[in-house]
Amino acid sequence: MKSELNLTPHKHKTLPKDRNKLLGNRSMVIWLTGLSGSGKSTIAGILEEKLINDGVLCFVLDGDNLRSRLNKDLGFDDESRRENIRRSGEVARLLADAGVVVITAFISPFRKERSLVRKIVGSKRFNEIYIRCPLQICEKRDVKGLYKKARAGKITRFTGIDSPYEIPESPDLVIDSNKISAEKSAEKIFIYIKDKLEI
Ligand code: ADX
Repeated sequence: MKSELNLTPHKHKTLPKDRNKLLGNRSMVIWLTGLSGSGKSTIAGILEEKLINDGVLCFVLDGDNLRSRLNKDLGFDDESRRENIRRSGEVARLLADAGVVVITAFISPFRKERSLVRKIVGSKRFNEIYIRCPLQICEKRDVKGLYKKARAGKITRFTGIDSPYEIPESPDLVIDSNKISAEKSAEKIFIYIKDKLEI
């Protein structure tokens, strides 16, 4: 089917680096991965505020938010999760090309898809950050009440319960979100980013 599309992507003269020059910093993708309830969205929100206050254009892509609109046709079977991550990775790429520092908050449970996103975005711009928190703690927190539903069998294929989470093998940074506060976690990532921002 693909060969019948007859597409010739246009190579525009203005490049991402021209927009980076305009904005005064490099763009990158800060890909947070971890269990539901590990603190990804909270950390992403604090980090976004810190960067904006520091004059850095950034944007958060959040699983629950994208799944409410762009990805609302997708469920939680393995294939849907794959497509969720592929599409979200493509959006992250576009935003990074637009000069933005992109922070993502997706469980992104599979190694294969995380390495696919690294390819989509480009390994130089891609940073995998593991928000590490033991399942028991996430389940105890149960901010959205979803672990309880999953244990009761009201939700199936819930990550950590009856759907796997593949631990990152060589993440660029690990944040132990059960040991330090969300504020401190965001601060650590902020320092990590600041080091890479200069053009
Ligand atoms: S991913 O696995 O495809 O990366 P994503 O991060 O987009 O997941 O969405 C996860 C969010 O969807 C969770 O934080 C939770 O609020 C909600 N959710 C609903 N059903 C499930 C499920 N079966 N497994 C995990 N999260 C679920």
